[in-house]
Amino acid sequence: MKAIVYHEYGSPDVLKLEEVQKLIPADNQVLIKVYAVSINRSDWESLTGKPLYVRIGGLFKPGNKILGSDIAGMVEAVGKNVKQFKPGDEVFGLMLNYGGGFAEYACKSEKALALKPAGMTFEQAAAIPQAAFIALQGIREKGKVQPGQKVLINGAGGGTGTFAIQLAQLAGAEVTGVDNTEKLELMQSLGADHVIDYTQEDFTKNGQQYDLILDVIAHRSVFAYQRALAPNGTYFMAGGSVATMFQSLLLGPWIRRTTGRKISILMVQTDAKDLVYMIELIKSGKVKLVIDKRYSLSEAAEALRYLGEGHAKGKVVITVAQNNQT
Ligand SMILES: NC(=O)c1ccc[n+]([C@@H]2O[C@H](COP(=O)([O-])OP(=O)(O)OC[C@H]3O[C@@H](n4cnc5c(N)ncnc54)[C@H](OP(=O)(O)O)[C@@H]3O)[C@@H](O)[C@H]2O)c1
Repeated sequence: MKAIVYHEYGSPDVLKLEEVQKLIPADNQVLIKVYAVSINRSDWESLTGKPLYVRIGGLFKPGNKILGSDIAGMVEAVGKNVKQFKPGDEVFGLMLNYGGGFAEYACKSEKALALKPAGMTFEQAAAIPQAAFIALQGIREKGKVQPGQKVLINGAGGGTGTFAIQLAQLAGAEVTGVDNTEKLELMQSLGADHVIDYTQEDFTKNGQQYDLILDVIAHRSVFAYQRALAPNGTYFMAGGSVATMFQSLLLGPWIRRTTGRKISILMVQTDAKDLVYMIELIKSGKVKLVIDKRYSLSEAAEALRYLGEGHAKGKVVITVAQNNQT
């Protein structure tokens, strides 16, 4: 089978289209013919090897040589212990090791996999998983946003952020989105009451305070985040720098004890029920799926460069195979 492979950390130039051995599903796995895969910042991080914690599977060379965590496709074969899916099912979901999707076939367990609804394209379905998991948990399940609360999403014009703005707005919050100049209009169109251009203004220095901050791109000190939190407010780091991660782990509990403000890392759970819930919100028109650009598998390097260089508004999707029925 064809796959986009990388053997060293680096720029998108290290990505190569190669012929690799087709996978055979283990007893608990589903073999999926991939029709579409979306790109997340986690792919960019795994490609470049930064922040350092993404090198957990390989310090000097990538352990998992195929990127791609969000796939949509058709089940081709199932292992003997698989109960929920059968060959021919159209499915979408998250690869639990955050890789393996930039390929014609992918093998994964049933976990974090759901049936793709009829009427939704494979590209649309592939754009959902990782961003939906983070946004739903950050805003709804762990963030527990209430009407009238002030919520700030840092990195709100990307994959997770475009869902998070809408979920916070649906929960009745007053929403502030932070991203670059190019994405201000998009954030407003999705329901952000206020937008901040991070190239012009530092939201931790403008005197505003928020009940919840969901940060997908954390790089400041925890004291800056504490300053931007209302009394009893919560800051969740979903992604970002090693320094902020360690500060959140080491100083977060102390800040909570001394100020009542909660600073912690959002550990995202991957349960298919969240995918089903997000599908319902999208089907009912309550949440809009924002797909910026589509590429073919052979253009994967270009697609990653587009995201990594800061242009992507919402999601970027790769069409791996054409399917005429959807
Ligand atoms: N915690 C967990 O369990 C868990 C699980 C999975 C993934 N993750 C992580 O969660 C993150 C998810 O990111 P994503 O896929 O939503 O990323 P994304 O689509 O790339 O969105 C990030 C957005 O942040 C913007 N941005 C860049 N620098 C910024 C700054 N200084 N201030 C404000 N915004 C800035 C980017 O704009 P530009 O275009 O300007 O760069 C982009 O629009 C990743 O880091 C991923 O590794 C966490």
